[in-house]
Amino acid sequence: MQPTYDISKSTHWNQENGPLFEGNVPKRTEYPNPTKLWNFDLNSPLGIPAGPLFNSKFIKLYADLGYDTLVYKTVRSVERQAHPNPNIVFVDKTKITRDRLGEDVNTIPEPENIEDVTITNSYGVNSLTIEGWQADFAKAKAGMNEGQLLILSCMGTHGIDRELVEDYVYTASAAKDAGAQAIELNFSCPNLKGAKTGAIYMDPEISSEITQKVKAAIGDIPLIIKLGHYEDRNLLNEILRKNAPHVDGVAAINTIKMKVYTPDGQQALPGEGRLTSGLCGSAILPFALETVQKIAEEKNGQSYNFEILGVGGITSPEDIDKHLEAGAKIAMTGTAAMWDPLLAYKYNQYKLNH
Ligand SMILES: Cc1cc2nc3c(=O)[nH]c(=O)nc-3n(C[C@H](O)[C@H](O)[C@H](O)COP(=O)(O)O)c2cc1C
Repeated sequence: MQPTYDISKSTHWNQENGPLFEGNVPKRTEYPNPTKLWNFDLNSPLGIPAGPLFNSKFIKLYADLGYDTLVYKTVRSVERQAHPNPNIVFVDKTKITRDRLGEDVNTIPEPENIEDVTITNSYGVNSLTIEGWQADFAKAKAGMNEGQLLILSCMGTHGIDRELVEDYVYTASAAKDAGAQAIELNFSCPNLKGAKTGAIYMDPEISSEITQKVKAAIGDIPLIIKLGHYEDRNLLNEILRKNAPHVDGVAAINTIKMKVYTPDGQQALPGEGRLTSGLCGSAILPFALETVQKIAEEKNGQSYNFEILGVGGITSPEDIDKHLEAGAKIAMTGTAAMWDPLLAYKYNQYKLNH
């Protein structure tokens, strides 16, 4: 494994010194046929979701490594520091089963193989000021290559002068001003408390109020919502029904929440509100695939127009194909791309031989 991020160091250190990458960047594979996403002709169906691209320097590396749809990590309308280190720990993937969702999981030492890498990540959605991220986004855009797309992920913030819904609109408008080619709304961060219920992706009313107002503000720019994993299929269908008229894309899934302990029973991520945090990496693949499949079934059944961006649990070329076969137009890998940045290259080699 060849991590581009040093989990023993702070977020700030990684933003200043990252991405870590030694060796040559392989030449990008040119695909014979483009992947059509809205009006964009993308070289490949490979991407990286909101998160592992910590700033424009990370975007430049991963664009050159052949990930063609990149999402700039979620930004806010107000500056926010990241939670203190550790922000990432490895967890025991064998404990993340359907009957144990929401329960506890233990930390483990760094695994040797990418298929065993499941982590929890806990940042609290750190953000620069609007001026700060707009300037860095401009640099990131300048680093993109032909046949690539840069999406900007944003969200509203609780407890500031603007109301949550209005802050979503305000932040998305700032994303439009930054030159975003598409905008993703983070509705599913595990640290987010929804205005009426839990996270916004579980709330049909608030989510659709936000998408309707944001769409009115950003006009033609494609709008994507980032959803999580649903135990209740009817709720997922209702969310899609209420949001489909306003959105152009649905990205799923975000992380899955569990309580994370060290093997001797201590809270793994120190600090208030950090016992429960979001898990991602290999263990969440089945949950991501079933969600993508359900969204695709509903999209086809109801003739919705949005595109599906599949996210979650990919660690191998075969997993990328599973997401595409489940109905995703773009398959995105977060955790695995951090520890195996050559995964896009490996996928392209694998496709040439299959
Ligand atoms: C380091 C890290 C930071 C993340 N930050 C965000 C974020 O800011 N916004 C967001 O919507 N998702 C965020 N995510 C979640 C990812 O977009 C993705 O949904 C999740 O990791 C599942 O994909 P994976 O199993 O390939 O990692 C983050 C993930 C990681 C690994």
